Amino acid sequence: MDRFPSGVTRYDLLDELSRLERASRFDETERNFFDEGPHLISSPELPWGDEVRHLSVAAYERFIHGETWITGGGAREMENDLVAWMGGLLGSADPAGFVASGGSESNMCAILTAKQLAGRKGGSLVFPDNGHYSLHKLCRMFDLDPIAVPAPDGHLDRVDPAAIEAAIRPDTIAIVATAGTWAYGSVDPIAEIGAIAQRHDLYLHVDGAFGGYILPFLELGGYHAEIPLWDFRVPGVCSISADLHKNGMAPPPASTLFFRDSHLLGLAKEICPPNGTISGTRGTGPIAGAWTMYRLLGTRGYIEVARKSMSMRDELARGAAAIPGLRVHPGSLINMTLIHSDELDLRPVVDHLRARGWMFAVRTVPGPASIVLAPMPHNEGQAPRFLDDLADAVAAAPALTGAEAVGAEKVSSYGF
Ligand SMILES: Cc1ncc(COP(=O)(O)O)c(C=O)c1O
Repeated sequence: MDRFPSGVTRYDLLDELSRLERASRFDETERNFFDEGPHLISSPELPWGDEVRHLSVAAYERFIHGETWITGGGAREMENDLVAWMGGLLGSADPAGFVASGGSESNMCAILTAKQLAGRKGGSLVFPDNGHYSLHKLCRMFDLDPIAVPAPDGHLDRVDPAAIEAAIRPDTIAIVATAGTWAYGSVDPIAEIGAIAQRHDLYLHVDGAFGGYILPFLELGGYHAEIPLWDFRVPGVCSISADLHKNGMAPPPASTLFFRDSHLLGLAKEICPPNGTISGTRGTGPIAGAWTMYRLLGTRGYIEVARKSMSMRDELARGAAAIPGLRVHPGSLINMTLIHSDELDLRPVVDHLRARGWMFAVRTVPGPASIVLAPMPHNEGQAPRFLDDLADAVAAAPALTGAEAVGAEKVSSYGF
């Protein structure tokens, strides 16, 4: 075929796609400390990385059809496998849930279920101020008052359970706590918050978008001496979201929402038939891509992936903390590191690193700029180069004058 009906040739199209791909920076994964998608590459520790990634992407392509409003039988079987496996690892005796498009949608579906359970219009939602922006967004969508409880004394990674309890109002329908906060990597005191939820007969949702597919594997692999209990083993936890397209290593858009039991899943489906998801027709490619990751890695593979991501986080955190003027925010239990400074203005440092092609997230809390790194296996071998560039940039960074320093305690964290 010389020309297609639009007049474009095959080569025109391939040129255009290359340009658009570069504009999306998909070609720069080797300098990318923040991305979502299939993050596996082969390394000495994960020799099967590339093959697993290719097979997951191939499965995605095979299931490219939406299969209409009703997800097809094969994709449903895959979804059930994923829910049974991971829901069980999260401590549910009756694993129930579904695949959604991302952490935001999973949070929305959880809170819609809480609303259905509370059987009321309006109301309020209580959560620590470290909660993700999607909580504010869903409150606006569902006519709920967001009650974001500030961190004690500016310790952004900490949560005071007494302050959470004090914030509950008669119209509160649910509490949300986070396991793997964006961007501190901390885990909220979920055992204490679970007891509060039970005392007040409230729904408790745990946002494990980032932490959900790494914390269980760090626990099983014995990485940390102790991880505070945060999943269904905590009485009172009603639902948990966990993103497949983050630490699940799967092609986006893919998240999972787990319920404590099938009764709650039934309520979710009552409001959002037929799947419980906000979207009607669902892409089944993401389900197939995620299922393939799970079939090939299994629990053992995910333990190895988690260990690899954490070893890179430790290397980056150690290296950054050794650069004069920089601080690594304490409290992260997952593959996330927030680098900031009390003395230097990191804004030019961010510009310098970006000019060298590094991709990472930037936050204004702690201000005026802090750097967030979320290393995953595709970052193999990049830490030393990044740390060299970081040290060069920091050596030329101007001192903070005070005017631009934003006290952590004065800023409401919107989660990004
Ligand atoms: C803790 C947390 N919750 C929710 C989300 C939203 O996830 P998504 O962007 O997949 O909707 C994120 C995204 O980074 C997150 O870190």
